[in-house]
Formats: sequence, C-alpha cells, structure tokens
Amino acid sequence: MDLDEALATTRAVRRRLDPSRPVPADLVRECVTLAMQAPAGSNVARTRFVVVRDPALRGAVADLYSDVYLNSYKDSEGYIGRVQVADTEGAAAQERTGRSADALERRLHEVDTIVIACLDGARLDGAAGFAGASLLGGVLPAVWSMMLAARARGLGTCWTTMHLAREKEVAELLDIPFDTVQQVCLTPLAYTVGTDFRPARRPTADDVLFWDRWDASAPRPPAVTGLIT
Ligand SMILES: Cc1cc2nc3c(=O)[nH]c(=O)nc-3n(C[C@H](O)[C@H](O)[C@H](O)COP(=O)(O)O)c2cc1C
Repeated sequence: MDLDEALATTRAVRRRLDPSRPVPADLVRECVTLAMQAPAGSNVARTRFVVVRDPALRGAVADLYSDVYLNSYKDSEGYIGRVQVADTEGAAAQERTGRSADALERRLHEVDTIVIACLDGARLDGAAGFAGASLLGGVLPAVWSMMLAARARGLGTCWTTMHLAREKEVAELLDIPFDTVQQVCLTPLAYTVGTDFRPARRPTADDVLFWDRWDASAPRPPAVTGLIT
C-alpha cells in the first residue's frame, strides 16, 4: 500500500474488526519491527508492546475496559457522541462515532489479539509538561507506526485510552511493573471486514496551520471535559 493511502485511510476500526480470523504472531512481529524504526528521545527505545492473546487475560482486560466505558464514560460530558459540533454534518459524524465506540466496547471481548503499548522507564503521573511531552514523544510515534503497518497488512486497530482509568489492575493482570512502566494505549488488532477505508472528515490544513505566529482568531477545539477518546 502506498504510504499516502495508509496515512489517509488508517481509521479507528471498531465495527469492522473480524474476530473470526486469528492474527498470526509473525504478522504482529512484522508490524512491531517496523514500528521500532520510529524516533525515540535520546535514541533509547522505551516502547514496549504487550500482546494479549490468552483468552482469560483478554477477557479480563476487556471487562475492565467495559467497566470504565459503561460506568464512568458513557454518561459523562466527554462521551464522544455528546461532543458539541456546530454543523449538522459534523454532529452526525460525532453521533456515528459514538455508536462505533459503543460497538468496540462489545467487540473487544471477541477479538483474539489486544495490544497494550507501554513506556518503559517512567510514569507520567505528575510529570512536568517538558518531561511528559518528551517521554510520550518517545513512544507514540512507534505506536502509530505499528498501526500503519497493520493497516498495510489488512489489519485494523483502534487507539484507545479508556482502560487507563483501571491501569493498575491491568498492570497486575499482565505482570506489568506499574511503578516504572506507563501504559499509553490499548488497541484491538484484527483483520478487517474488507480493506476499503476512506479518508475521514477532518480540519483542513489552513484550519490548523499557523505561519510564524499563533493566530488567536483561528477556531479552537472544544474545552477538554472528563475522559477523552
Ligand atoms: C488519545 C486517544 C484516545 C482514544 N481513546 C479511545 C477510546 O478509549 N475508545 C475508543 O473507542 N476510541 C478511542 N480513540 C479513537 C478516536 O475516537 C478516533 O481516533 C477518532 O474518532 C477518529 O477516528 P477515525 O480516524 O476513524 O475518523 C482514541 C484516540 C486517541 C488518539
């Protein structure tokens, strides 16, 4: 797949994850091998991927995700389907995404591979802006590269952070040393039903590009409320 196509069509896949086709371990290895070519602060690779395939562990992780989703998130102001958007097209997209996120809460219990990306070496709790940005910046490029590599192989992913509200319990389940390892993202990894994904509606380049100086008259995103997805 052409790089531009992968960049434009790597969607948050939820309803089109196919739980009936297990993902071969070698394919996971290929995606992670490519992911580790991403940049890392001080050239120290702090990204770790915990691939959860044991059915009991997967189920327990998915249960924790569902618990946060249903009991803390779905009725909150930050719920994706409740985010206020000025235009009707945008509002419809937001509502659709809400239904899609609802579907992932159910689908996560069915997929055979869940990947949890981690930062090995530090926690972000209370980190100063500089440290937080540098530490996260050392991990997130690799996580997105893994997702792009997955897309190029017919696999779907969906970046999520919902489970982090119960991160410590997930750490205990998977023997992740909580004091020195920060989980940053959880994604299902599964073949997709069809591979024809389209570019999504997004702000234009001119909406988000500032030349030389910040433009105070440019539109701002909504204020951050509650849990974010
Ligand atoms: C930091 C971050 C956290 C996210 N958390 C969740 C989540 O917990 N659950 C979920 O269903 N989607 C989550 N998403 C996915 C976003 O909702 C998704 O990227 C967005 O709706 C765009 O999807 P699209 O590329 O398919 O248009 C998260 C995305 C990011 C970048």
